[in-house]
Amino acid sequence: MQAIARRSATRAPAFSRSMATQKPVLMKEFKIYRWNPDQPDEKPHLQSYKIDLNQTGPMILDALIKIKNEMDPTLTFRRSCREGICGSCAMNIDGQNTLACLCRIDRDGGKDSKVYPLPHMYIVKDLVPDLTQFYKQYKSIQPWLQSNNPPAQGEHLQSVEDRKKLDGLYECILCACCSTSCPSYWWNQDEYLGPAALMQAYRWIADSRDTNGHERKERLQNDMSMYRCHTIFNCSRTCPKGLNPAAAIAKIKLEMATTA
Ligand code: SF4
Ligand code: SF4
Ligand code: FES
Repeated sequence: MQAIARRSATRAPAFSRSMATQKPVLMKEFKIYRWNPDQPDEKPHLQSYKIDLNQTGPMILDALIKIKNEMDPTLTFRRSCREGICGSCAMNIDGQNTLACLCRIDRDGGKDSKVYPLPHMYIVKDLVPDLTQFYKQYKSIQPWLQSNNPPAQGEHLQSVEDRKKLDGLYECILCACCSTSCPSYWWNQDEYLGPAALMQAYRWIADSRDTNGHERKERLQNDMSMYRCHTIFNCSRTCPKGLNPAAAIAKIKLEMATTA
């Protein structure tokens, strides 16, 4: 009897400790856009999922992964790095284009969170937009170094000052948040390149090692490719990396106006 009494006496505090550290349940509703091309009769709709925020990580991507792993394996979205580097988890969260892995869940359990794919894009399934046109546009600006100068000692050298001119440009992860927030891109997507591709065009125009700046600007010299930008600045407001594509476009326009 004594031995039994001693065991329960030592167990009791351990049990109380684990009870004391258990967080209270904090339920939140996520309304997520669903559309499945294999069910063409079913219209796109919002599907509701409720999860305990104290049982998930702090970001929207954590909630999506929890839903997919534990509640509904059919939910489809892209993600890879989960740290704002790959650009694949871009989506529209509570009205803002952003990266799900960098977007904190609003911990107000009384407010639901709505998650849609990037706007004005063809949808492959659920939260996955078709980025074929976006990548075609990126390819069209020829995003690689073009130089007529032979490289010195096997390398194209650049001064520290010239290298600094690329800051704020090279960090773009091509997530498409900016282009899909741009009204001009929504309505002229076939011909207007959009802020992401245009900022990358400027990234090469601004590169001191590249000797094809003139040709690069020539390709933009028409009504549609760049001049559909009306400096509305939605693109810069939404960029999850804090970049400023509208300013880059303005610099191309200025260079084209002053060198014409
Ligand atoms: S400029 Fe910003 S929003 Fe646009 S593609 Fe690059 S990282 Fe994404
Ligand atoms: S500044 Fe230009 S590219 Fe950016 S959202 Fe406005 S129109 Fe689009
Ligand atoms: S998962 Fe790579 S940017 Fe979000």
